[in-house]
Amino acid sequence: MNLKAYRPAAGAVAAAAMLVLTACGSGGSDDPAAQHLSDRGPITYVQGKDNTGDVKNMVVKWNAAHPDQKVTLKEQSDNPDQQHDDLVQHFKAQDAGYDVSSVDVVWTAEFAAQGWLQPLEGAMAIDSKPLLKEAVKAATYQGKLYAAPQTSDGGMLYYRKDLVPNPPKTWDELAADCAVAKAHRMGCYAGQYAKYEGLTVNASEAINAAGGQIVKADGKTPDVDTPAAKKGLSFLADGYQKGVIPQEAITYQEEQGRQAFEDGKLLFLRNWSYVYNLAAADASSTVKGKFAVAPEPGPDGTGASTLGGHSLGISVYSAHKATALDFVKFLESDPIQREYLQVQSNAPVLTALYRDPALLADPKLGYLKTLGDSLATAKSRPVTPFYPAVTKAIEENSYAAIKGDKSVDQALKDMQAAIASSVNG
Ligand code: GLC
Repeated sequence: MNLKAYRPAAGAVAAAAMLVLTACGSGGSDDPAAQHLSDRGPITYVQGKDNTGDVKNMVVKWNAAHPDQKVTLKEQSDNPDQQHDDLVQHFKAQDAGYDVSSVDVVWTAEFAAQGWLQPLEGAMAIDSKPLLKEAVKAATYQGKLYAAPQTSDGGMLYYRKDLVPNPPKTWDELAADCAVAKAHRMGCYAGQYAKYEGLTVNASEAINAAGGQIVKADGKTPDVDTPAAKKGLSFLADGYQKGVIPQEAITYQEEQGRQAFEDGKLLFLRNWSYVYNLAAADASSTVKGKFAVAPEPGPDGTGASTLGGHSLGISVYSAHKATALDFVKFLESDPIQREYLQVQSNAPVLTALYRDPALLADPKLGYLKTLGDSLATAKSRPVTPFYPAVTKAIEENSYAAIKGDKSVDQALKDMQAAIASSVNG
């Protein structure tokens, strides 16, 4: 990907603007970000699979109140890499049909640099004051807000409280508890280890928990060839070799792990908060009333979650941006943010909800405090327009180390080199 094409020198911009003015006649502009700002009409909202079915209810609510500006929900698959590629394809085709899309926090820089997201300024501004600071930061690129925080995400440890009343606080305690799993003929611990974005999340968490980091504070200089990163990645690699992590977990994304946990095949599961309500209420869940959540363990105490989440991006190619903006504000409103929390057990982006005494005391929201703590200490993944290549470097090498195809040392050396060569395009 050559982004230079999208960042022409100032002189070239002026020259191009002259050409455009000549071509379109006076006052014309072919900058898609300047068009359709006050236009209204039907729009399409694109996001990953609606696991709970509740996003459909939100859309029904909107449509009942806006019969002339109806929203059509387009569901993608539940695989974040496929969601990303689908969005890229439609943006490249300048598709006016993808008005609003749910943008993973790690895609902001790439999409913004490509000029695909409508900057949320001027007539398109939103009020970001009540929103989680880290979620706003994740939707910002080079000082400009390009998307509106929608839901956040922090990892937690799901554990079978009927079998392990006190959840492990450290990796050693977790490994010791595997005796319980063995006695019950179940797998001990799993996260997401298939070769996709979820593995970047899990490998980063292990590395961060051990005091390492993927990149330095500048967000792009790789820093994984270190003893701390080795300790972190070894937790996963050794865990897999020694059976703490069951063999089949090498194919797990979020949904397969959730399924295994709901089927009673796992003692511990690292996953996001959306699993909570499904495992508590799914007709097929065998663990209803038998599980709870705790902070993710680390080598010497609580570990560190990777910051996840999604923001709502308005496409620069949308023909109905005023409607798109109102729909975005609707999804960020207090009642809908409560619905994300209460119905979908998704992490809202309204800061106040994490301090609301009534919500914190609600037994159905038993995960809220743990989730808030997870978010408060979550660590971001690298921020770069070349993120797809960076995450590939992390995924491929972590995967090889976990499977035992490469030593952890070699995997980290290769990861270091691959991040270095991809981070600047
Ligand atoms: C969740 C997170 C997202 C992350 C993905 C990885 O959807 O919100 O940030 O990239 O999981 O699978």
